[in-house]
Amino acid sequence: MNDWYDEIGKGYTSLRIPDKRIATIVHKALGNADRVANIGAGTGSYEPLDREVYAIEPSALMLSQYEGTGKRIQGIAEAIPLGDNSVEASMGILTLHHWENWKKGLKEMLRVSQHSVVLLTHKPDLYDFWLLDYFPAIREIDQKIFSSIEDIESEASLNQWKTESITVPVPFDCTDGFLGAYWRRPNAYFSSEVRRSISTFNLLDSALVEHTLERLKNDLDSGEWNKRYGQLNNITELDLGYRLLRMTPV
Ligand SMILES: C[S@@+](CC[C@H](N)C(=O)[O-])C[C@H]1O[C@@H](n2cnc3c(N)ncnc32)[C@H](O)[C@@H]1O
Repeated sequence: MNDWYDEIGKGYTSLRIPDKRIATIVHKALGNADRVANIGAGTGSYEPLDREVYAIEPSALMLSQYEGTGKRIQGIAEAIPLGDNSVEASMGILTLHHWENWKKGLKEMLRVSQHSVVLLTHKPDLYDFWLLDYFPAIREIDQKIFSSIEDIESEASLNQWKTESITVPVPFDCTDGFLGAYWRRPNAYFSSEVRRSISTFNLLDSALVEHTLERLKNDLDSGEWNKRYGQLNNITELDLGYRLLRMTPV
């Protein structure tokens, strides 16, 4: 079982606080499903609290920090321990890129779900984010680990499910500390806790991270960052490539 989150998952709930605006988008996509499976549930972020929920998660550490109201079950997406059509809907939030075999995992989600499958993922191509000007390696890693939206859609379609892609803009004060959350708060990336709760940062060479952060600090101090990206301070939400895929049977 994938146990990476047993290493990096410590303190997850203090920085990965579900953002209410994103939760509204997720809950709308889940519709009025009474029984929901949350795959790669982690600590239970974005689960609806007023439904019957099955939280499926491989990491014991993440399960021990679970804050939802559902039934915790240790398991993986590729072999969901639930029967066929046993829930109305299933959800997977920022998890698919961690699965060893996402096609198998998606097929499993479609198998257990009667009406809908909701996945929050990230477009690995062509997203414009200043942090990647400093850390181009993040883009390279993302392009390797995130499947394209088209590939996910076509896999669903092979299984006779159609997909609607919904843009999930990131609010300037997003409470869920994923990679793009701090686009208007560059100083946040200096915190080692912030970086630890962003999985991609854990894949970067630590000397390179320190060196690059020094460059970022210099640019912030000299006003260079502001000159290049300061216009971001005039907007309140940004499309950084996060997409909610809502799948329904054809
Ligand atoms: C970024 S966390 C997201 C957790 C939670 N869904 C959230 O939104 O906060 C990714 C989660 O995927 C889990 N994961 C990794 N491999 C998995 C697999 N094969 N099947 C299901 N979950 C997996 C990790 O253990 C981790 O909890």
